Amino acid sequence: DWTMASFVDKEIIRIRALVGEKGQCIGAVSGGVDSTVAAKLMQKAIGDRFHAVMVDNGVLRKNEAATVEKTLTAGLGINLTVLDRSSLFLDRLAGVTDPEKKRKIIGNTFYEVFQTEADKIAKEAENTPNAGKIEWFLQGTLYPDVIESISFKGPSATIKTHHNVGGLPEKMSLKLIEPLRELFKDEVRELGTSLGIPEDLVWRHPFPGPGIAIRIIGEVTPEKVRIVQEADLIFIEEIRRAGLYRKISQAFAALFEGKAVGVVGDQRLHGHIVGLRAVQTSDFMTADAFEFEWKVLREVRNRIGNEVGGVARVFYEISSKPPATIELE
Ligand code: XMP
Repeated sequence: DWTMASFVDKEIIRIRALVGEKGQCIGAVSGGVDSTVAAKLMQKAIGDRFHAVMVDNGVLRKNEAATVEKTLTAGLGINLTVLDRSSLFLDRLAGVTDPEKKRKIIGNTFYEVFQTEADKIAKEAENTPNAGKIEWFLQGTLYPDVIESISFKGPSATIKTHHNVGGLPEKMSLKLIEPLRELFKDEVRELGTSLGIPEDLVWRHPFPGPGIAIRIIGEVTPEKVRIVQEADLIFIEEIRRAGLYRKISQAFAALFEGKAVGVVGDQRLHGHIVGLRAVQTSDFMTADAFEFEWKVLREVRNRIGNEVGGVARVFYEISSKPPATIELE
């Protein structure tokens, strides 16, 4: 009979057999549950011969890279390299307003950065005693992703761009290792808990690969990124304080295009327009807006007004999916 413990034991044996005594593996981590659970399994199976890489693309949540680094390194013992490439990504995003272009730029730049780092790690690996070449690439694919990529084979470009950490760069010619490919999300969470991954991480809301670039309508600028990051942190803090985090499937702050008038002291000033979005969904294909008690939204509004500078208006988004999507772009 199937239990988590027997799954872990079997998977570790399978990974060790695949990778061999000296084989090495590389993989990207995002701070989300899937890539963290996959990385922890690899660490248990082959220790530091698994190399995790996290790319800070400048459009992550506030303090995300530092938080993930702490949890994965100190907390979970994973051999992790964090690359801060925020300026590179933000430079390339400057002036770009088309959401699909934003996705492409972020995806391509990610591969470029990852590829360069993979080459570097591979070179170092060759000089490490008792370790062989990097031949494996870890991917946190779940069973629903497997089904999706089978049924959408062919014109699946837009489906594929939804994958958070991204697929195997073709020219890397590494072999794929997918320890979660038979599991559903709830099983990954259970597995994560049994592997000692903190509850906060295990139950984290999903976060898109292109990050807050697709939560800023129009051009992405460092100032807009700052506002979204700070407003988002406040929104999530208040949702947690109200005990609602697990009732909501995904919540975040976003930024509308343009400015609106506001008043600071006795001055009329044009400021940014923040949108708050919180949805409940079972499958992310359809979703409804979460019904907050007014006092929660009021507290979020007050804190954004007091703590985030440069914001003139705060909206709560009530759209359902369909016709809207969950993200703004
Ligand atoms: P939408 O906005 O399509 O979102 O209703 C459904 C789910 O997919 C996530 N999403 C993305 N994830 N890359 C990703 O990795 C993307 O380009 C992307 N677009 C949407 C979204 O956060 C939600 O969970």
